[in-house]
Amino acid sequence: MRTMKRVCFVCLGNICRSPLAEGVFRELARQAGRAGEFDAESAGIANYHVGDPPDPRSVRVAARHGIVLDGVGQQFRAKDFDRFDLVLALDHDIFVALERLAPDGAARAKIQILRAYDPQATASLDVPDPYYGNSSHFDRVYDMVERSCQGLLAAVTDSR
Ligand code: 4NP
Repeated sequence: MRTMKRVCFVCLGNICRSPLAEGVFRELARQAGRAGEFDAESAGIANYHVGDPPDPRSVRVAARHGIVLDGVGQQFRAKDFDRFDLVLALDHDIFVALERLAPDGAARAKIQILRAYDPQATASLDVPDPYYGNSSHFDRVYDMVERSCQGLLAAVTDSR
């Protein structure tokens, strides 16, 4: 029997970048006929937006691509490492914060940086925080997240 892969996308507030990554990944898996292989969630390192809906600018860019974002903000806690096979950081600072939070080596081994799967990534592997930006920043975030999630989906296939 094939087991379900549990993935969690993590940014700072869980209202801009990681809900988008969760929604895009889910949609790409669905389009590939692989929705049943994955359980995708998202979370924030900080607790500022626990219980909040995604940022309207992320909701809008997702909607333009036919994706509905309907999650609510949650904070990633040390115990959550047990619930996931793969924990994907949206930028380097989040990666470091997750490494600090990880209770042991098994948890640390689950952390990866999402843009490591972006074939167009160059020097930086960050998905830049768009919170203080404008809609063009959200468009850029969307493009990075989409390329990365495509790469991630392909990589998970390859390693099966
Ligand atoms: P996110 O963006 O980490 O992509 O969800 C942010 C959301 C909220 C804040 C910062 C970044 N904040 O400072 O409240």
